[in-house]
Amino acid sequence: LSIVRLGILGTGIAANQLYWPELQKLRSRYRITAVCNRTRAKAEAFAKLTGAKAVCDTPEELFARDDVDAIAIALPIELQPDYVLAALKAGKHVLSEKPVAANLKQGRPFVKKASALAAKKKLIWLVAEQLAFAEHVAKAEQWLSAKAIGDVRLVTVSYMTLMTNQSAYFQTKWRQNPKFAGGFVVDGGVHMANVVRRLLGMPKEAKSITASFNPALKPIDTAVAALKFANGAVGVWRSCFSVSAQEPRLRLSGSRGDLDFWADRIALQKHGGQKREFVAKHSAFYHQFMHFHAVISGKTKLAFTPEEALLDLEFMLRIIGE
Ligand SMILES: NC(=O)c1ccc[n+]([C@@H]2O[C@H](COP(=O)([O-])OP(=O)(O)OC[C@H]3O[C@@H](n4cnc5c(N)ncnc54)[C@H](OP(=O)(O)O)[C@@H]3O)[C@@H](O)[C@H]2O)c1
Repeated sequence: LSIVRLGILGTGIAANQLYWPELQKLRSRYRITAVCNRTRAKAEAFAKLTGAKAVCDTPEELFARDDVDAIAIALPIELQPDYVLAALKAGKHVLSEKPVAANLKQGRPFVKKASALAAKKKLIWLVAEQLAFAEHVAKAEQWLSAKAIGDVRLVTVSYMTLMTNQSAYFQTKWRQNPKFAGGFVVDGGVHMANVVRRLLGMPKEAKSITASFNPALKPIDTAVAALKFANGAVGVWRSCFSVSAQEPRLRLSGSRGDLDFWADRIALQKHGGQKREFVAKHSAFYHQFMHFHAVISGKTKLAFTPEEALLDLEFMLRIIGE
């Protein structure tokens, strides 16, 4: 397929602020042909913005369209599994948002069933954990295997965002009364779990403490966990949505230096002074869409599986002690 005809289910923040800016740069690869949203007016506005020809009243109508090859699903987390299954059943490739499910009880049988269905129908199902495709994370992986900071000894995650009732994310009703585990801590945390898991593997041990400073952020807004990894490295994970901090999201401290991770860049500081920086050219969302297109076109294999997305959810559930 040279142009993937995309149907969008859920035209909220993710579709408007994360997908559309990147899809505009990828006009040679994607065209949005049809959209669907619970509140129709929002679907109509999105169709107008993107040039999509059809606004569907129901997801079933969207999935049944002949002019749609793939569906991007950006709905409240706990609702996504049923729609992923329905879209695959209808013969569409699927890009579905993270976390892959609301919890492991929902996630385990779902991932098994949906992966089997995708394999049987020769369809691609990608879970949208975009950091799996980030340039700077790939570069970090290279530097680490070249032992640029020696052996990694200490892992520090700092995921801090002051979430006020002015935030568009806070204003989404489904986040105010979450029907998925861990609230913002897990919702946002799977991305960093993905990076840490990729670089160091799943933690062998995790000891968690949680707290709740802002009762509007349910069920918790804070988690701190002590971690131990297979290579012997230890870590401290700090997620808090009731403070703000200008710190790298992740610092890996090694026997020969430190490696800091920011939103789109990494910075290496060797003991003795030598510094190196790498800045990503394109956003991780851009690369994610490029990858989805390449896999659908048969040019490459899926580089991030739903089973791995389930591990990232499991990682975060350990961070919150569940
Ligand atoms: N990859 C990332 O970095 C990233 C970033 C942000 C979000 N996300 C993910 O994207 C998904 C959507 O998040 P968002 O921030 O875009 O939220 P959002 O703005 O609330 O969008 C969700 C959409 O789902 C619809 N919806 C809400 N409740 C529904 C229900 N009960 N039945 C059917 N439709 C319903 C909403 O329709 P209405 O217009 O009727 O409310 C809305 O358009 C989530 O899974 C989230 O985790 C990922």
